[in-house]
Amino acid sequence: MTLRHVRGAVFTGPGERLAIEKLILDAPGRGEVLVRMLASGVCRSDLHVVDGEWERPAGVVLGHEGAGVVEALGEDVQGLAVGQLVVLAWIAPCTRCSLCVRGESWLCTDPRGAGHRLTADLVRLRRGDGTAMGVYSGIGTFGSAQVVAAEAAVPVDPRMPPRIAALIGCAVTTGVGAVVNTAHVKPGGSVVVIGAGGVGLSAIMAARMTGADPLIAVDSVPAKLALSLQAGATDALLVGDAAKVIAGLHGGGADHVLEAIGMAGTIESAIDWTRRGGTTTLIGMTPQRERAALDVYPFVEAGQRLLGSNYGSAVPARDFPLICSWYLEGRLPLDLLVTETIALEEVDAALGAMRRRDGARRVIIHTDP
Ligand SMILES: NC(=O)c1ccc[n+]([C@@H]2O[C@H](COP(=O)([O-])OP(=O)(O)OC[C@H]3O[C@@H](n4cnc5c(N)ncnc54)[C@H](O)[C@@H]3O)[C@@H](O)[C@H]2O)c1
Ligand SMILES: [Zn+2]
Ligand SMILES: [Zn+2]
Repeated sequence: MTLRHVRGAVFTGPGERLAIEKLILDAPGRGEVLVRMLASGVCRSDLHVVDGEWERPAGVVLGHEGAGVVEALGEDVQGLAVGQLVVLAWIAPCTRCSLCVRGESWLCTDPRGAGHRLTADLVRLRRGDGTAMGVYSGIGTFGSAQVVAAEAAVPVDPRMPPRIAALIGCAVTTGVGAVVNTAHVKPGGSVVVIGAGGVGLSAIMAARMTGADPLIAVDSVPAKLALSLQAGATDALLVGDAAKVIAGLHGGGADHVLEAIGMAGTIESAIDWTRRGGTTTLIGMTPQRERAALDVYPFVEAGQRLLGSNYGSAVPARDFPLICSWYLEGRLPLDLLVTETIALEEVDAALGAMRRRDGARRVIIHTDP
């Protein structure tokens, strides 16, 4: 196979603009596939990296929410074929560790792509001068193609529009999975979702599908509240107005409160707004080492529960196709998430818009270099 040229948006250090670079990709090895990227969403987790809130190595093609087409297979790859539409998973389960074996692959202790390389000593992507280039979470979806572990590439229904399939790689699975897999929201349950971005809106859609009522969205931006109502919220409140309304619910709070921002203040509100015996589910990720306070006495006395939800407690091979089928059946209005499609060169502008809390998802549509 001839060497493949790739265009990628490279993280060069906190506070720096992503650098659009022309790179070289080798052929896939054993257990790997080469994926031509079609679309990639820009997630707040990318922004955490760019803003230096999470420590990540410089010299990686960023992006962890994408979909593409299988272009070539390495040896020993089962269940994938050239030409298939795949959604990429930012945790490629090893399938062998004790947590994978228990079916909890979102907690895999040895995922492929850890350290932002396929394996510690293996690199398929490099600069023209031969220096190795990292691949964020092993998938680097801000690259026009990547070699990924076969476990990271999940085939989905070819009727899926690529821009929507891309979002299933992170925001949608995270939000939908938090409701369905982590929190186990029941029909008729009262639900509050704090933060109506890509993840929060996905949680709202899933809670609506599940039959939550009331379903209250909370955000600081009026346009997000309008989107929340379109996504299926019964009520949408500015953050300053929420406490009073939620305290009036049966039991003094909601059965479920899900936090989808990642700020200590709203995490503390999420716990306060949960009813006696209810469940708070934390989805939002704070800057590293940030702490939130818990008023222990009333929390314990009220028999409350506090859960963390990583990747929507999802098993990609099971949940990506399932979520696609819900979309194709019209049960999840995921089109609402796409504020704008953009070119790779516009990725910094998309990150800037996210900082300003402007819009839901911006989705890069890749073109070959
Ligand atoms: N747990 C996981 O596996 C996982 C996966 C993906 C993303 N995340 C995290 O989830 C969070 C949300 O990601 P996203 O991509 O949806 O982000 P986003 O920027 O699209 O959405 C955040 C929303 O919060 C709102 N907001 C911000 N500050 C607020 C405040 N003080 N009060 C009220 N509303 C406020 C914004 O208006 C926006 O609607 C991030 O922290 C991200 O890192 C976690
Ligand atoms: Zn993400
Ligand atoms: Zn594992």
